[in-house]
Amino acid sequence: MKLIVISILALFLLVGCDGTTSFKENKIFAGAKIVEPSTLALGQTTYLEYCIQCHGVDGKGKGPSSQGLLPPPRDLTQGLYKFPWVAYGEVPHDEDLARIIRHGLKGSAMLPWDISDERLDAVIQYIKTFAPQVWEVKDAQLGVKLELPNDPFGDTYKHQAIVKGKKVYHITAACTQCHRGYATKAEITEWNKELSGSVEVDPLFYTLKPQDGEYNYKVLPPDFTYHELRSITDVPSIVQRLMYGVTGSGMPGWKDVVTDEELWALAYYVDSLRALKGEPAERNKLIAPLDAQK
Ligand code: HEC
Ligand code: HEC
Repeated sequence: MKLIVISILALFLLVGCDGTTSFKENKIFAGAKIVEPSTLALGQTTYLEYCIQCHGVDGKGKGPSSQGLLPPPRDLTQGLYKFPWVAYGEVPHDEDLARIIRHGLKGSAMLPWDISDERLDAVIQYIKTFAPQVWEVKDAQLGVKLELPNDPFGDTYKHQAIVKGKKVYHITAACTQCHRGYATKAEITEWNKELSGSVEVDPLFYTLKPQDGEYNYKVLPPDFTYHELRSITDVPSIVQRLMYGVTGSGMPGWKDVVTDEELWALAYYVDSLRALKGEPAERNKLIAPLDAQK
């Protein structure tokens, strides 16, 4: 009830008491996208109906239901997007925002929204108006899309991929700078002998290291065996995420930092860890021996 009252109030504030919308002219958004006032008006109505509880009337993420949520609802005026498939900091395509809104962000309060295609497109256009510094800059370009490299492993060589990915994760790419380690100290010593570098097993190796990032809270890197992953559905979606990184969270993109084969190996490895979520007995077989080491 409270929400409805607030929504109606917000509607009046935004559209004016005579019911006319505040949009009178076409907008031109990044990627030369021309959007008509009627679309923005429909987007506004949709936003007021479904999104303000969390993202707030002004888009700043401080709506009435935002309190205590972690991660907090995004401040849409920042114009930063974590989960599109474009490189770190680049402007997302409409299809990215559509995927994010349709599928939601698992493990957060951002649920999947089952709204009509027309309303989905309209609300996407409307939320752009919160961040004119990104969307309404003259000649602003959309982020570059990278081609998903071919999977060199496939189901047949999945096991080899996981073995390789484990080593890339802990040694070559050192994902444990932020995420936790899942290999034993003995394994790491063994790999180091082989690779002739020296990687010390530091005291934080088995912990998650919260990152400052560009949002107003510390972003926790997930434990893949325990937390929900926001934008991940399968192995290819992990490759996409790794190629592009997570804008503003400190998680960089890995395309051309590691080889395409290593990208897929990492993805198969992370997916094998992800499979332990919700399987406490299986997870324990991996984690208990790590915890028992001294
Ligand atoms: C119940 C709360 C809630 C509602 C309602 C909600 N969101 Fe969100 N939204 C969130 C949270 C929480 C996040 C941040 C997730 C994160 O950072 O991992 C988020 C993030 C986002 C993002 C950023 C995505 C990215 O890649 O960074 C967009 C865009 C967004 N929401 C749009 C919408 C739209 C459009 C609606 C209405 C159709 C909506 N949200 C409704 C909670 C909500
Ligand atoms: C500089 C710190 C940092 C490094 C290095 C890093 N990550 Fe992350 N990673 C993060 C943070 C922080 C998040 C959480 C982002 C969020 O949800 O806002 C994350 C999230 C993820 C996700 C989940 C994405 C989703 O949709 O929820 C995956 C998968 C991932 N990282 C894999 C890796 C792998 C594999 C490596 C090494 C190749 C790596 N990360 C290196 C900080 C890092």
